[in-house]
Amino acid sequence: MKTEIIEFTMNYYEDAISLWQETPGVGLSSADEPDAIRFYLERNPGMSFVALVDGRLVGTILCGHDGRRGYIHHVTVHPNYRRQGIARQLVDHALAALKEIGISKCHLFIFGENETGIAFWQATGWQLRQDIHIMSRFIEVDDGSSC
Ligand SMILES: CC(C)(COP(=O)(O)OP(=O)(O)OC[C@H]1O[C@@H](n2cnc3c(N)ncnc32)[C@H](O)[C@@H]1OP(=O)(O)O)[C@@H](O)C(=O)NCCC(=O)NCCS
Repeated sequence: MKTEIIEFTMNYYEDAISLWQETPGVGLSSADEPDAIRFYLERNPGMSFVALVDGRLVGTILCGHDGRRGYIHHVTVHPNYRRQGIARQLVDHALAALKEIGISKCHLFIFGENETGIAFWQATGWQLRQDIHIMSRFIEVDDGSSC
């Protein structure tokens, strides 16, 4: 079994969205439509990755930054390939890309009931913050959609 971690390009979009759609714990929205993901990847080049096993997509990570902090989304590994260190490798690649441009801290969002996800992040050195809540608001954009 040969595992490769390579840059996420739109060539992998269809396989990635299929994996996200079938994975509990991954929240999807209009921000995951093809044009939105293309915009995200163009805005954050070289920071998002896929894991391929024998050429088949089995894992993803989206990573970007706002000039101050990094943000990770959609760390997902196909159930048949879990507990083999694939998510850890994906995160290591994303953090290396942030480090390369001098971003020294990264955040991520996770559903409070996602025990597996929280176990993964805590086992790999991430702090579960109890002191912060997220506040969100939709913004009307020109094409009538929101993200
Ligand atoms: C969370 C997820 C990405 C982990 O992927 P993975 O490739 O299995 O993770 P790794 O093999 O790199 O795990 C690294 C370490 O995390 C911990 N870990 C991973 N999965 C765990 C689980 N189900 N329970 C407890 N600890 C876990 C372990 O310490 C593991 O090391 P070990 O296998 O040597 O004990 C995967 O379970 C997944 O896709 N879940 C659904 C999507 C999701 O919830 N993503 C996170 C949303 S932010």
